[in-house]
Amino acid sequence: MTRFNQTKAYRNLQEHCKKTDSIHMKDLFSEDPTRFQKFQLSFDDLLFDFSKNRIDETTLSLLMDLAEETGLKDRIEAMFSGQRINRTEDRAVLHTALRNRSGTPVYLQSETDSSVHTDVMPDVLKVLHQMRDFTKQIHSGIRRGYTGKKLTNVVNIGIGGSDLGPKMVTAALKPFARSKMRAYFVSNVDPTDITETLSQLDPESTLIIIASKTFTTQETMMNAGTAKQWLLGAFGNEEASIAKHFIAVSTNRQAVQDFGIDPESSMFGFWDWVGGRYSLWSAIGMPIALNLGMVHFEDLLQGAHDVDCHFRETPFRENIPVVMALLGIWYHNFLGAQSHAILPYDQYLLHLSSYLQQADMESNGKSVDGDGNTLNYDSGPIIWGQPGTNGQHAFYQLIHQGTRLIPCDFLAPALPQNPSGNHHQTLIGNFLAQTEALMKGKTTEEVAEELKNEEMDSTQRKLLIASKTFEGNRPTNSFLYKELNPRTLGRLIAFYEHKIFVQGSIWGVNSYDQMGVELGKQMAKTINRELASGKEAHAHDSSTNGLIEHYRSFHPA
Ligand code: F6P
Repeated sequence: MTRFNQTKAYRNLQEHCKKTDSIHMKDLFSEDPTRFQKFQLSFDDLLFDFSKNRIDETTLSLLMDLAEETGLKDRIEAMFSGQRINRTEDRAVLHTALRNRSGTPVYLQSETDSSVHTDVMPDVLKVLHQMRDFTKQIHSGIRRGYTGKKLTNVVNIGIGGSDLGPKMVTAALKPFARSKMRAYFVSNVDPTDITETLSQLDPESTLIIIASKTFTTQETMMNAGTAKQWLLGAFGNEEASIAKHFIAVSTNRQAVQDFGIDPESSMFGFWDWVGGRYSLWSAIGMPIALNLGMVHFEDLLQGAHDVDCHFRETPFRENIPVVMALLGIWYHNFLGAQSHAILPYDQYLLHLSSYLQQADMESNGKSVDGDGNTLNYDSGPIIWGQPGTNGQHAFYQLIHQGTRLIPCDFLAPALPQNPSGNHHQTLIGNFLAQTEALMKGKTTEEVAEELKNEEMDSTQRKLLIASKTFEGNRPTNSFLYKELNPRTLGRLIAFYEHKIFVQGSIWGVNSYDQMGVELGKQMAKTINRELASGKEAHAHDSSTNGLIEHYRSFHPA
């Protein structure tokens, strides 16, 4: 594979960037009345409008060259065909198999012999069947709690990929939830999280899911232990209550058993080829299945599968995740953008930006390439955001008039889930106004004209004209779809997953390991031992030693 910044396309894009530097999007719109038609793609009822970007056909075509030259087509095939593309961990990346609805096999390359391949679908379908069976038993009341009460509260204990996906999806699809089921999520090791959650719940009607790929994650195992004590406390320390109220989702059968959960009846497995942040499609999606029902969970899978087919088969110019990724590369590597904002105009998508933060930043927050060379170009951007219109009254000022370039994604449903007067139309009006304002801006001449009849001295006039001028030319993508339902959500998530894949592939990084979280984890273990020992801290830098001592002063031995 040719390194990203040594390709011909990269050099051409650099040249092109210099030439297009002074072009304003509003001129591109006025010069070409068909611009919107040219720079949009649709996917059933979803419209992806990318016309409000600092691009022309040449930009796009050079970006497509970049994708070709860095071998994207082969990389896509390598992922879908189960090659072990996560080279640091020697694993395949096959979350697409979890939502494969085509009835065809998906092969995984063997660890020991690259010419041997096994079909993963029988195992995938077996776990899906197990999930279907289990949710039916819970919903019908065949499986009940220790005292015979129906289990209507589901507490998911997990963190990172074992938390954010199910949490985001259950919030996003609340209108589709079963009326009697409630989902709760505990992730933080801060005792406030589990204390506040469990204090609202009746143990007799609570099912606890311990969700952890490794079943060793400190936060999850500590919260799981606390939940176990809470439950045992409620049932007179009867160990038999554990089997009735706990299930596990993990790849680590032994650790599940050691915790006291029977792997035969109460464990749902997945595999090392499912990355944590790509795992909501596996049994990690159990809270989704329990909260919404299996039919909706499978619609979500179907939505993602629709996009998998689109991504694998569609030419790059019409391929939504490829275009999303290339636009990002244009801004991050050529126009100096450092971050990317996710701005859903849908309150139900309130956790989308945190979900995508992990998906993107843990995947592409890397500074070496797949051969161990240090990158001499930028990789993954900072992902952030929150729903509109709230963000408008918080950070949009900086997006409109700050010194940084921040490409934004706007997402909105055309139909509301909760029609109420003019609320939804007002919401959409704001979304449209923001993307238009970001693109157009407001010139100094326009501001001067507005202020011309107002009395003020020339210093004040100069200040006001400068302050009220908007440069504009701020890029946005818009996703407008009929409604947020399970299938649409599955599609949206898969668009972003593949966008991340494409960017990682072009930058040449391994998007599927996360070595960067290890160092802090190891150091926390050492410091926790020291905090417990009560001995004076000398082993660290003076700042860490000092903080340890200050903490200790509130916890005398
Ligand atoms: O933060 C590191 C990480 O390994 C994530 O990638 C993962 O989603 C999370 O921790 C939780 O891991 P596990 O599911 O093994 O508990």
